[in-house]
Amino acid sequence: MEKVAFASDHAGYELKKHLEEYMKAKGYEPVDFGTHSEESCDYPDYAHPAAEAVEKGECAFGICMCGTGNGIQMTLNKHQGIRAALCWEPALASLAKEHNNANILVLPARFVSTEMADKIVDAYLSAQFEGGRHQRRIDKIPAK
Ligand code: RB5
Repeated sequence: MEKVAFASDHAGYELKKHLEEYMKAKGYEPVDFGTHSEESCDYPDYAHPAAEAVEKGECAFGICMCGTGNGIQMTLNKHQGIRAALCWEPALASLAKEHNNANILVLPARFVSTEMADKIVDAYLSAQFEGGRHQRRIDKIPAK
């Protein structure tokens, strides 16, 4: 069973719980790095452990969220091995995999419905990285 790293702050907590169940139903194993309630908290506390699990290969990929998605995405992308993509519609999620081989899908929890979030996840899961010129480009992303 493929493991999927989940992390959110309080603003993303409900959507995280929803998507963990959604992924379980699809045969994935969610690994929940927190937060574990709607009590106000700081997204980096949960984003860094999730990013490390994906970087180390302990999780195949990640799904993370905060209110806007921006703060958690910024944190995740501080990790050299992470390509976290903020997606608010399915086409962005498809392209994030096809062109950027995004290894963490990030959602803006306060700006997408659960139905839209499901569609975004489906788009990410069904897309394939295209390689070629896109591989050359992502090879140049890490800062020296
Ligand atoms: C929390 O209120 C909010 O600031 C956070 O979820 C996120 O949107 C930050 O980028």
